[in-house]
Amino acid sequence: MLFVTGGAGFIGSNFILEHLAQKDAEPILNIDKLTYAGNPYNLSAVADDARYAFVQADICDEIAIATLLSRYRPRAILHFAAESHVDRSIHHPDEFIRTNVNGTFNLLSKALKYWQTLPAREQSDFRFLHVSTDEVFGSLGPQDAPFSETTPYAPNSPYSASKAASDHLVRSFHHTYGLPTLTTNCSNNYGPFHFPEKLIPLVIANSLAGNPLPIYGDGQQIRDWLYVSDHCAAIRTVLARGQAGETYNIGGWNEKTNLHVVHCLCDTLDELAPRAAGSYRQLITFVKDRPGHDRRYAIDARKLERELGWRPTETFDSGIRKTVQWYLDHEDWVAQVRSGAYLNWIHKQYGDHPPGALI
Ligand code: NAD
Ligand code: DAU
Repeated sequence: MLFVTGGAGFIGSNFILEHLAQKDAEPILNIDKLTYAGNPYNLSAVADDARYAFVQADICDEIAIATLLSRYRPRAILHFAAESHVDRSIHHPDEFIRTNVNGTFNLLSKALKYWQTLPAREQSDFRFLHVSTDEVFGSLGPQDAPFSETTPYAPNSPYSASKAASDHLVRSFHHTYGLPTLTTNCSNNYGPFHFPEKLIPLVIANSLAGNPLPIYGDGQQIRDWLYVSDHCAAIRTVLARGQAGETYNIGGWNEKTNLHVVHCLCDTLDELAPRAAGSYRQLITFVKDRPGHDRRYAIDARKLERELGWRPTETFDSGIRKTVQWYLDHEDWVAQVRSGAYLNWIHKQYGDHPPGALI
């Protein structure tokens, strides 16, 4: 069995759906607190799959995590759970420290205790895979080389600082205690089930509602975009063949300015869902910049390609088109998430037992 933390969020739910679409896939236990970002409705398609189970738990909960480990005896933990939105971390950093730092520490501590009880063969097969971000490396200048695995850490937001701290804890548990860890540092993802507080889904949702498209500062900040399925494939590759104790950078070789991304989204929407009032580009509005806004991220993913043979398959254009189409086909999902109605729906439909619940 695999444990997935944060499996009701954006990347975690894509990971679970794709994993269970494989024949002979290992069963998954999804451990998620269901914060505002966690939506078990994302996993309705596998709710009745015998290989899928869900438990609502906080990764900071010492008893819950220890109990789940000894009861279900996973062969790997894939740790996605986190507070993930930079803007929220600027307003309320506390929850980022609690979940990203203390929660990761609790998972590591309980995983170590569990791992130490395993027979030698199972010990060597066990993996703790920590899903992290390129933001731990800080901000690049226009001519700087992309982040590699040896780039020094220089986090600039409470979010990236909390992720950097968690990466260091993971490293220390391998170095000091021998826990077989893997860390991945990935660039910006986009795709289905992306919560509409982040740039791409926000722009699509606002466009369809006829609302302004807010661009922070001059819109010339650069991100390196990766379609979420490519990230999930990279995680499967690292889990299967990664070297314990190593870190792997994951990126799409898709550096784009924010303004370019928003233009692409508007142009794709103009084509797939034209509006009578004219181009969606008319909705673009420049707003106050994010404090401490990192100017440029770019990932050098050559280690992952060279050592494990992974490469992204989606181009930026094909990924954006798929994403826009997904949101057009799932306007009800966006409406529910934005209104909070899905929380009410889950309560009404399942009470304290969301889809796939164990108990
Ligand atoms: P998300 O915010 O969409 O989902 C986070 C999930 O974690 C939610 O389901 C939430 O309910 C759960 N969670 C939060 N606190 C928890 C707690 N204390 N206990 C248990 N569950 C908890 O995030 P995402 O975008 O899917 O990101 C997943 C991981 O990938 C994060 O670790 C993030 O740092 C990392 N990452 C994200 C991106 C990106 O572009 N989104 C890129 C690189 C790395
Ligand atoms: O790089 C990986 C990171 O990517 C992940 O670790 C984070 O979890 C994820 O949220 C993402 O962080 P960003 O801050 O880069 O993503 P976001 O979608 O919030 O913003 C992308 C860029 O767009 C960033 O430069 C800020 C800008 N932006 C964002 C919003 C929400 C705007 O200009 N306007 C907006 O309204």
